[in-house]
This record gives sequence, structure tokens and C-alpha cells, in this order.
Amino acid sequence: MTKGIKIVTIGGGSSYTPELIEGFIKRYHELPVRELWLVDIDQGKEKLQIIGNLAKRMVEKAGVPIDIHITLDRREALKDADFVTTQFRVGSLDARAKDERIPLKYNVIGQETNGPGGLFKGLRTIPVILDICKDIEELCPDAWLVNFTNPAGMVTEAVLRYSNIKKVVGLCNVPIGMRMGIAKALEVDPSRIHVDFAGLNHMVFGLNVYLDGVSILDSVIESMADPKNEMTMKNISGLAWEPDFIRALGVIPCGYHRYYYKTSEMLTEEREAAETVGTRAEVVQKLEKDLFELYKSPDLDIKPPQLEKRGGAYYSDAACSLINSIYNDKRDIQPVNTRNNGAIASIPVDSAVEVNCVITKEGPKPISVGDIPVAARGLVQQIKSFERVAAEAAVTGNYKTALLAMTINPLVPSDKVAKQILDEMLEAHKQHLPQFTQSVTI
Ligand code: G6P
Repeated sequence: MTKGIKIVTIGGGSSYTPELIEGFIKRYHELPVRELWLVDIDQGKEKLQIIGNLAKRMVEKAGVPIDIHITLDRREALKDADFVTTQFRVGSLDARAKDERIPLKYNVIGQETNGPGGLFKGLRTIPVILDICKDIEELCPDAWLVNFTNPAGMVTEAVLRYSNIKKVVGLCNVPIGMRMGIAKALEVDPSRIHVDFAGLNHMVFGLNVYLDGVSILDSVIESMADPKNEMTMKNISGLAWEPDFIRALGVIPCGYHRYYYKTSEMLTEEREAAETVGTRAEVVQKLEKDLFELYKSPDLDIKPPQLEKRGGAYYSDAACSLINSIYNDKRDIQPVNTRNNGAIASIPVDSAVEVNCVITKEGPKPISVGDIPVAARGLVQQIKSFERVAAEAAVTGNYKTALLAMTINPLVPSDKVAKQILDEMLEAHKQHLPQFTQSVTI
């Protein structure tokens, strides 16, 4: 990496990209990015152009010599990259809106990464990421793949199982969001808080929490039990937890656990929202329109605060800190999605988990937690089974495997309902699911 770092961002036209640019600018003194290639597909070229121009203004204002390139030619961009970040959405927000609306018709949670929506996002995304992996293998075999594309856990699982890429890390902002939420509830600086994270993506628990190195788990649990402390992300309702349940659970759930532990209340809220303000995708579509209007302004040369209305807050901190620590062999601790390697006893060694890792030049080294407490463990294992079967369905395009994945998802109430939802969603998304209509070889 002597020539300076080359980063390629696939899905560069995303409204989140200014987060990333800000993160690289902030760290330029230790992470000298020379080239940043923003890649998108033809349908995204207008957005890509807007983001590219904003990125150029941002680096110019900051006075850092990062060359910004925009291109629709992924292969041209990937040549000799050091890091490839992925943040794309197959079928765009329209597809997400279908993932959120169709299950609701069957009285089932409609969510981007959970339940039927999560399955379909995986079915659409995994073949694309595996194609990208093939390009990486050929054009930049030493590069690290840093994936943000949802469902990030299932995507990491698929890359580990079905590609030749070993240097892959899945990332999510949920753990940072939890740490920030805890710091806010306790009114302390986040740098003083450390959380032992373990579980899966969007299914991660804080097993212990420390303030200046001293465990404060009990008081954090008490503050979670207080309905005033929502501790959630912008995209997830902050419905209050049943205090005695949280106390009995004894670990810190993430915002997404509400879909599993408060299914009926979340469903009621979702249905009401869908009929009034729209599903989250529909809300985000409006937010995006406003954001891109703002991004177009030649006077804008920083990340606008309006971006904080999105669920992906701290996204750049997660991505840029990870790249920084790999590049500089920092050996600090960060929660990422990686091969379990025995860190969580009840999850297969070769599966992707979200767990604290020491981040080194050779990648994340997972820190063993022993195991997740028995009451929380079963759900984690069930979701891992779901992710594995879903990834297999995505790769093979096998209908029965997809039905199996849908049925074993804990948010789906029966095999019959699973089949009804599956059939409707396969039809609705068929344009983005060629593996289910053509024969596939693996
Ligand atoms: C959370 C999740 C991300 C997800 C985002 C959605 O932060 O961790 O995985 O992409 O929310 O936010 P949005 O604003 O698109 O609903």
C-alpha cells in the first residue's frame, strides 16, 4: 500500500456516502486515502453524479488530496483496490417498500432485514455480492471487502460459504448506536463506555457494559427498563420494554430485538404507520428526495446534519475506524461480522457472527465470550439457521429451500402463510431474482 490507499465504494450513489467521505477526511492524517472510486449502476448515475460532486467539494474544503472518481464500470474501478466497501440496494427503495408492505397483508412484520423482508433482501443481494467477489478475486485479490449491504449478517455468511474471498468483514452501526444510547442515558462521554457485544447482525446483545472498566450492567439494565429511555435507532420504534422482562433477560438487547420480543405490538405500530405516514421505505424515499436536493447545492461542502434522520448514524465511524485499524494494525477492539472461530460456543465455528474483535492487519480476531445466556441463545441459533438456509436459497434459486427459510423464520407463523408470502414476493421481485427462473450452477 505504498502508493497511498485506493478505496472503491460500490453503491457510491447512496445518500449515505457523505458519511464515508467525512470519515476519511477526519482520519486523513493516519489513513492517507489517495483515490476514492464511487461506483454505481446505470439507473443510479444521476445520484452518483450528485454525490461525486459533493464529495469533491467536501475534500476540497477540507484541503485533503483525495482524488474522487465516479464510474459505472465496476471492473475498471476495482483494479488494484486496497479496500472495497459495498453499500448497495438491489431494486432500490421500491423493492424495500415491497418487502415491508407485502408481509403486512398476511399479518406478518414487514421489515428490511427481518422476517420475509430480510429473506427477500438476501435473495436479491447475495448473487450480486458473489459476483463482486469474483471480480475482487481477479482484479484486486489482496483487497479487504468491507460490507455494509444488508442483510449484513446473511451477506457475510454467504461470502464466507460461497466465495473464495477470505478478507471480508461485515459492518453495522447498531453496536455503536447501542454504545451511544447507553452513554446518553447515563450522561457520560461514550469513550468511557465499553460493551461486550455478541450475537448476530441485528441480533446482537450487550453481554456486559463497563464504565471506565467497571461493570455497570445492572444499572444499564435498570435504565433500559425505564420507558423514558428508548435506546433505539431512527428506523425502529422505541416501544417501551416490559421492565421485568428486561431485568430477567439480564443482557442488553438491540433495537431489532423488539421485532421478536414484542412482535404483536410492533406489528400493530407498523400497520398504523403503513396506513398513515407510510412504511419506513416510503418515509425514507421522501427523506432521500430532500437530501439529494440539498446535496445538489454548490454551496454545500460538508455532510449535512439532515442525514442524521436516517437509521445509519455513525456508519462512517464504523467503516472508517475499521479500515483505519486494519491499515495501521491498531489492534483495538471493534464489533464486526466475521467468522466465529469458536468465539461464541453455540454457533458453528464457520458461521458469521457479530462479536467484538481485535482489529489487526490480518483482519479481525474474534474475542471469545464463552456463550450467550441460555434464554437468549435459542433465538440467535434460530436466526443463524434461517440465515444459512436463506443464503443457500439465494445461491441455488431453489424454491423449496426458500420456503424452508421463510417457514423457519420466527416471525412467520406457519408453513401455509410462509408459502403464500413467498409466492407473492417471488412474483413481486422476479425482475431481481433471476436465479429462481433460470437454472443455476454452483
Ligand atoms: C439501521 C441499521 C442499518 C439500516 C438502517 C436503515 O441503522 O443498522 O442496517 O440500513 O438502520 O435506516 P433507514 O434510514 O434507511 O431506515
